[in-house]
Formats: sequence, structure tokens, C-alpha cells
Amino acid sequence: MAITRPKGTNDFMPDEVLSWQYMENILRDLCKQFGYMELRTPIFEDTELFIRGVGDTTDIVQKEMYTFTDQGNRSLTLRPEGTASTVRAYLEHKMFAVSQPTKLYYMGPMFRCEKPQAGRYRQFHQFGVEFFGSNSSAADAEVISLAWEFYQRLGLKGLEVRLNSVGCPNCRPIHRKALQEFLKPHFEELCSSCQSRFEKNPLRILDCKSPVCQKIVENAPTTIDCLCEECQEHFAGVKSYLDAVKIPYHLDPHLVRGLDYYTNTAFEILVTEIGAQSAICGGGRYNGLVKEVGGSNTPGVGFALGMERAFAAMAAQGITLPTKEKFDLYFAPLNEEADHLCFMWLTALRSQGIACEKDYMNRSLKAQMKYADKIHAPYVVIVGDSELADQKAVLRCMANAQQKEIDFVNLIDSLVEMVNGGKENE
Ligand code: HAM
Repeated sequence: MAITRPKGTNDFMPDEVLSWQYMENILRDLCKQFGYMELRTPIFEDTELFIRGVGDTTDIVQKEMYTFTDQGNRSLTLRPEGTASTVRAYLEHKMFAVSQPTKLYYMGPMFRCEKPQAGRYRQFHQFGVEFFGSNSSAADAEVISLAWEFYQRLGLKGLEVRLNSVGCPNCRPIHRKALQEFLKPHFEELCSSCQSRFEKNPLRILDCKSPVCQKIVENAPTTIDCLCEECQEHFAGVKSYLDAVKIPYHLDPHLVRGLDYYTNTAFEILVTEIGAQSAICGGGRYNGLVKEVGGSNTPGVGFALGMERAFAAMAAQGITLPTKEKFDLYFAPLNEEADHLCFMWLTALRSQGIACEKDYMNRSLKAQMKYADKIHAPYVVIVGDSELADQKAVLRCMANAQQKEIDFVNLIDSLVEMVNGGKENE
């Protein structure tokens, strides 16, 4: 039987990769303009990093990690997300020791053993940013505005920013107690996951997807009801910065997020057209995470967005990205001597930055012209017996079928001039 790719993974075919590169370029430009530098960390990390970083009561750590033991008996895990690794690298390379803030971004594959469905994969790609060292509400608003601007540049419409504050270690216990008291009379009605969350992490019950649990928590006390003065001020600050730059948001007091490290701001961006997996971006503040991973008290805020979901949203809204690479020239040699000559010219032109291709299949002239058309080459250089005899190649313009002769001696210079002149006029 033929071997196929593992369940929940994708091959991206060359045409699709062009769209990925286009999206990646938008993200890199954006990060340059917003002052974020790229960080590249390993695909696997010490398992302990995610247990401590993401949190041992989360679905990710409990059910979804690809964990293995290597030959040295070390427990390693394919990264399920990028924040914990970024924090580890921030500490390991003492990035905190230079003047702050530190603003980093990453792009790449993440791995979660989830039940695959449309928009949910086992290997998926995230772009994320992490902003360390500042507790300013403006930092929260900046990361949200970066995500917002990215989706604007893609041309997406109808985005919904959901915003909440989940408080800090001072106000969280007050909310936890109020929530447990509220839920106690309904304990037996909660789903089995929420029953086990009741003691360990009752906050997560607020975003349980079970309709019964959702009904029960409808009027439950929210974190917003219990925020301490400092958290209230911080949250008001985030809203005022977003208002100032006219980024619309909806307050969602039940937005909790599936990772344990959040303090204060939590947010998600949704696009409803893409079905159940409508969260295209999620993030928030994590002021306790750097300490949890072994550093000193350092504030942080960031987000990650699913790149496959951004493509899905674009497809749902009929937005297309380039899927064809452009060639400048195609060489059509018609005998062996011409083939050598064309190979030489091709190599010389490529070294001058011109994108060109030649026939490798010994095709007839007619078949070569058809192929040149298929790869969208605007010009074809034809060399056969009579061209060799005259030492002149035929240059054919594919758009209007006009042909002219070019002396072999001037061929490289004239073609470079023609292609570059054409590019200047584009
Ligand atoms: P997350 O909400 O787990 O957050 O993931 C962020 C985004 O990754 C989601 O909104 C979604 O678009 C995409 N995503 C997640 N799981 C899958 C999947 N199985 N298949 C396809 N796409 C998926 C985090 O990962 C945090 N590290 C975000 C963060 C950064 N918070 C602060 N800094």
C-alpha cells in the first residue's frame, strides 16, 4: 500500500507555497514596521517547559502533546505553541539584560494531537509575537493592532475582536471563590471535564463548549466583576488605546482561552464564515509566565494566529493570492548545438537575475511554444539550424506573435536590457 501523509497534516503544493510566501512577506514587513525581530527556536523542547509554561491542567498538556523519549532517556515534546519556547529563549539568552522592551516574532509549524477537522490540524502553522518587559496597556493594544493590521492587509472583512480581562493573582482567587460558590449547586449537571475543572481550574468552565455547561454559566460571576483596582485600570487603558486607533472590539466576559498563563488581557479574533474553528488569532498578557519558567517577574503580552485559518478565511471571502511564478524568458533550442548554446545563455542570464527556463524534453518547436505559453513566459528565444548558420536568434513576443532577430554576439546584453527595461515600465 502507498504511504500517505500522517492524519491531520498537509502537503503544500508549489502553487500554494507561493501564497504562503506572499503571506509571510506581509508578516515580515509588518514586523519590521512595528519593531519586532524574528526568533527561531527548536521544533522540540524539554517536555517540562510546556508543563510549566502552558499549564498542566490545560487540554494541550493533558491530551494533545506529541511527547517522546530520546536515546538519552530525555522526555521531549514537539512544540504545541510558541510562547513557552520564546520565554525560554528570552531567559536562556539573557535578553532581559539589555534595555527593554524586547519584541520578538516567530513563524512555523506547531503540533497538537487534536481530532482533525476543517481548520484544525495536528501540524499547523502559527505566526506569533511576544512583547516582554512592559506592563503598559499600550503594549497590549499594540499587539492587537498588529494582528488587526495584518488582516486588513490581506483584505479580510467582518473580523470580530473579542476582549476580556482575566485578572491577576490578587483578584483571581476572589473570582475563583465566587465562581465555585455559584457552580456548587449545579455540580452534578456539569460535564465530566468541568467536574474535574471545578477544583483545579474552575475559570475554564466559563468557556466550556457543552451547551448544558454554557447554560449554567450564563449568569455566573465573571472575572470582570472581580477585577482589583489595578487590573481595572489596566483594562480601561487597553480599551482606550484601541478606541484611539478605532479598532472595534466586543467585550466577552466568558472569554478565558485554553492556556493557563494569561493574566489581565485575553483576546481572540474571529471570522464567522470559516465554521466551527472561527478563531483565527488568540493571545493576551502573561505577567507570571517568565517567572514560572525560571526568570524574575517580567511582564509579557503577545498573540499567535493560525496561518491555515487565515487562508481559509480568505478563501471564504473570495480573496486570492498569486499562485504563479513569473518567468522572463524561455529558450527553445531545436538541435543539440543550439541546446548547448541556450544552456550557456540561460546560465549567464540567471546569474544576472533574470528568471529563465529552457526545454529539457527534446520537444518539437510547436510543443515548446505550447509549453512556454503554459509557464507564462512572455518571450521565447528560438535557435535552430538556420539561426546557427546566420548567428542570429529569433526572439518571439508571445503576446502579439511578433518576431525579431538578435545577433548572437549581442544576445545577452540585449536580453538583459529588454527584460530590465520591461520591469522598469511595469
Ligand atoms: P492558541 O489560541 O492556542 O494560542 O492558538 C493561536 C491560534 O493558532 C488559534 O487562534 C488558531 O488560529 C491557531 N490554531 C490553534 N490550534 C490549531 C490547530 N489545531 N489547527 C489549526 N490552527 C490552530 C496560542 O498558541 C498562544 N501561544 C498564543 C499567545 C502568544 N498568547 C500569548 N502569546
